Amino acid sequence: MTRDVVRKARLSGERTEDIESLLSSMEADRNIASSDVLVDMAHLVMLTRQQIVHEDHAKTLMKELFYMYESGVPAEAFDPLYEDIHAGIETVLTRKTGGDVGGRLHIGRSRNDEVATCLRIRTRDIILDQLEALTRLRSVLLSVAEDHITTVMPGFTHLQHAQPVTLAHHLLAYEQMFSRDFDRLFDALRRVNCSPLGSAALASTGYPLDRPLTADLLGFDRILENSMDAVASRDFAEETLACDTMLLTNISRFCEELIIWSSAFVQFVNLDDRYCSTSSIMPQKKNPDVAEILRSRAGTVLGSFVSAITIVKGLPMAYNRDLQDLNPHLWRGITGVRRDIDLLAGMIESAEFNLERMAEEAGRGGTTTTELADTLVREFNIPFRTAHHIVGNAVKDGSLDLVTLDRGAEEFYGKTLSSLGVTQESIDSALSVSTSLSVRKLPGGPAPEAVQDALVERRKELEKDIELICDKKTQISASLHELLTQARRIAQL
Ligand code: ARG
Repeated sequence: MTRDVVRKARLSGERTEDIESLLSSMEADRNIASSDVLVDMAHLVMLTRQQIVHEDHAKTLMKELFYMYESGVPAEAFDPLYEDIHAGIETVLTRKTGGDVGGRLHIGRSRNDEVATCLRIRTRDIILDQLEALTRLRSVLLSVAEDHITTVMPGFTHLQHAQPVTLAHHLLAYEQMFSRDFDRLFDALRRVNCSPLGSAALASTGYPLDRPLTADLLGFDRILENSMDAVASRDFAEETLACDTMLLTNISRFCEELIIWSSAFVQFVNLDDRYCSTSSIMPQKKNPDVAEILRSRAGTVLGSFVSAITIVKGLPMAYNRDLQDLNPHLWRGITGVRRDIDLLAGMIESAEFNLERMAEEAGRGGTTTTELADTLVREFNIPFRTAHHIVGNAVKDGSLDLVTLDRGAEEFYGKTLSSLGVTQESIDSALSVSTSLSVRKLPGGPAPEAVQDALVERRKELEKDIELICDKKTQISASLHELLTQARRIAQL
């Protein structure tokens, strides 16, 4: 005999374990159990204020809800016999307060708007944690960058030495990427933090519910206007997963570099031991395992995103049970991301960069030949393509001295560089790493002065973002404080 309050009267027949395990969302609902208690409280406050539930009944129910709020949702509510945590909590409340009281909590509500509300609350909280972690990561990147404005290293394209940059410039590239991740998630939050509550099953309800009130009490920015959209849509989950996929893709790229940089070939970085593992057989090994798992995490989250969006694709309006099957993908996708961001921050903060090795490689592999060609253009008025041919030809011949360059100049330009006044000295100066860097001083360039300016701007941006989250968190906790105050009043506690 099923003990589920929802199912009991309408349906008969034992359900097999297979059927129950297929239908139950209990495992995934662990993520929303505490949000469900808040949702119950807000709904009951509103039902009481609207005189839909009598205050005596409300008092008894609210006391039990308070008890759950303070000591946690009891284990019995998670009994796999219940379809989900909503049925579980309602069953426990009804058992404790009796059917005449417990049976009133669900007035004007369906599990459809209830679950959507819980999902949004939990997702919002997870996003806020991620946003905070992103500001910590960005702050680490800015601090480390500040110490390395003149730390030269090669920049790569196609993983081949390309042009000299600085470590600061390289780190600021990532800071910029993570700042966009912040923007995306913060913007997503606007669409996540809306209340479906009061939409009931799909067509709202005839009771005089106060939807803005429950939205306010739960810290939502606004209500979702359309009751069918409110219960049927999961784009808030898809969007969060998409944002996290992009964020983890950026983390993955950074980790890939740390892995390459920490190899014996490259030796640009020595990662702190705590982020590394050794081999059970090869005693010499120090493997960058944390960076490797972080690199793979993007795949996991992308998988969750693809699963989630594929589940929604093709669903007719409004609620369909398929939507329940999306929830585990949502939690699997977004839950570990805060940790991942913090781990990357810790790994960078504790990393030892090998400045000598970076400097050694900065000028290798012809990284400054672009600047040599540019110098021929700027100072000797040679067309860029011709200069590119002259220098490229010298690279092929294996020497960048004046004699070799002159040979190419004759071939591609019809006159020697010497005849134009080019000296070995001017060649050497153009080929120096510091020249190459210092002339690239446009906004966004690697020249130390440009990077200094960028750092100032990035710090300002970061401060603004920190304030944004702070305001959002304050607003939400003020709402929840108000909810608890009103709930306490009703429970007469
Ligand atoms: N556990 C369900 C979910 O996560 C709650 C809604 C169930 N609604 C229904 N009509 N069966 O989607």
